[in-house]
Amino acid sequence: MFRSHTCGELRISDLNNTVTLAGWVQTIRKFGSISFVDLRDRYGITQLLFSESLNAALDANPLGREFVLQVKGKVNERSNKNANIPTGDIEIEVSEFTILNKSAVPPFTIQDDTDGGDDIRMKYRFLDLRRNTVKKNMELRYSVNRSARNYLHENNFMDIETPFLIKSTPEGARDFVVPSRMNAGQFYALPQSPQTFKQLLMVSGYDRYYQIVKCFRDEDLRADRQPEFTQIDCEMAFVEQEDILQMFEGLIKRIFKDVKGIDYTETVSRMTWEDAMWQYGNDKPDIRFNLQLCNLKKPTTVFSNKADQANLINGADFKVFDEAETVVAIALPGCCEYSRKQTDELTEWVKRPQIGMKGLVYIKCNTDGTFKSSVDKFYSEDRLKAIAEAAAAQPGDLVLILAGAEERTRKAISDLRMYMADKLGMRKPDDFKLLWVIDFPLFEYDEEGNRWVARHHPFTSPKPDHIEIMINNNPVIEDAANYLAHPYAGIKANAYDMVLNGNEIGGGSIRIFQRELQEKMFAALGMDAAEQQHKFGFLLGAFEYGAPPHGGLAFGFDRLCAIMGGSESIRDFIAFPKNNSGRDVMLDAPSTIDEKQFEELQIKLNLK
Ligand code: AMO
Repeated sequence: MFRSHTCGELRISDLNNTVTLAGWVQTIRKFGSISFVDLRDRYGITQLLFSESLNAALDANPLGREFVLQVKGKVNERSNKNANIPTGDIEIEVSEFTILNKSAVPPFTIQDDTDGGDDIRMKYRFLDLRRNTVKKNMELRYSVNRSARNYLHENNFMDIETPFLIKSTPEGARDFVVPSRMNAGQFYALPQSPQTFKQLLMVSGYDRYYQIVKCFRDEDLRADRQPEFTQIDCEMAFVEQEDILQMFEGLIKRIFKDVKGIDYTETVSRMTWEDAMWQYGNDKPDIRFNLQLCNLKKPTTVFSNKADQANLINGADFKVFDEAETVVAIALPGCCEYSRKQTDELTEWVKRPQIGMKGLVYIKCNTDGTFKSSVDKFYSEDRLKAIAEAAAAQPGDLVLILAGAEERTRKAISDLRMYMADKLGMRKPDDFKLLWVIDFPLFEYDEEGNRWVARHHPFTSPKPDHIEIMINNNPVIEDAANYLAHPYAGIKANAYDMVLNGNEIGGGSIRIFQRELQEKMFAALGMDAAEQQHKFGFLLGAFEYGAPPHGGLAFGFDRLCAIMGGSESIRDFIAFPKNNSGRDVMLDAPSTIDEKQFEELQIKLNLK
């Protein structure tokens, strides 16, 4: 028997028992002729006492950090107990020990507050994984996995694997491609998601499918993106959008309960994409805090009074506002006391190239009912008051206003909103707020190609009452400058995203399931019949054999874990992640391949 117990298991109730433990040497402390060793395994740490009688044996076989050690001994009560660990009341008085394997000195200390930087820890990820903090992340990941599987199993979902070597049909991100030796000159692609396979499974009658599955996307990386990542991928047949929202709201709530012990009883609120964009400046708003935006240029659903906001700011000879496409305001609670230095700092912040604004206007809503602003020259106090009111500012608030081109300004104010929420301590990691964003546009305008691209993917169906608009109008954009006036710009999709604390953790849609509509969709994206056949002939063909109405969604598993674990970076929750350049620094991949492999593949490099 290698071990009778784990290093996290023994308690005072085990006193005087003889036990065998195995694990890694965490620390060695020598006091004269006796030594204390902390032995660690996945389950915890147990203190070992090597008494004088083992001194000679230890001298002959010295221990070192991370040595793999097996010990036999008696469980004793400790004289100075350690209340911080579950085994802190006892220690093992070692009678025999065996060094199972030696270890080189590890390149960083294997403890929570390690001295190892990111690069070295990634290079020695197998050692990093021994650290308690990383282990906790892996455990959280596994419990999310288990919870999801249980829920889906209980709800009749069936886990079906789909292939990794598939056909290249890039949409959105780039494909990773794999050359085929047996079909020289031809390539497989790794799936960006199992999207078309899960739809085919619906045609096959497996009406509730799921898979916790790797997806591969050759795209620019960020803290919340990896080139290979995992989805909880799901699809259902004979459902409407409402069925899907209910089912997967249930899944996330179950995960919260199982993993965090949180009873998320409230119904997940829903927001249209349009409202999200105008009220929060982006399509994945963090609604843990209010801080809503106010569009001062055009009346939107945001305003209860629906007054003509343009009158508030136009015609005061303030060119910046008069000429701007968009002017948006945000009221920051209790910030009217900001000093000149602080408002200057905010101005500098929005002028940084990442934000790209020319400047910032502020209105201080003083508690005595007066208003002071950086544009006092142009606006009377009454007008300032009206603007502040439109922005729902209270006495004591500071209103910040940005002006410029619509998209950029909206993004800037959204970034500013998050920045200020951080500053004001409104983004609490233990506070979880879910949101469904619904009614996304079906198409997005691609400036470069002056054409429509699918905002989600080409299999997403338009809202039923927008199908006609798609069928009856030509997708060609005659007037690029005025693309928003094209009927396609207003077509909404039966698509939804789930947002958690300002992160898109999942997304999906009701799918197109008729061949004609799917062909129309492909055509709208600029694919002629031949290209449609070449890329998606299998799916169009399948739709001729009794495809049921269906829809689904996929959660970003890594992201979900990271947010639940209170981290910004999904890498912390992946056992063997890639770095920001998509490299695995432990394996040193990607790498070149042998000449022989090139020959077999009949491939010649032509590096530029
Ligand atoms: P989508 O592309 O929105 O949908 O992806 C679903 C979810 O996966 C996560 N995600 C990522 N996580 C880490 N690294 C990445 N590079 C990455 N890209 C996406 C996000 C996202 O919400 N087939 C559709 C789903 C469907 O329609 O059913 C799809 O893949 O959290």
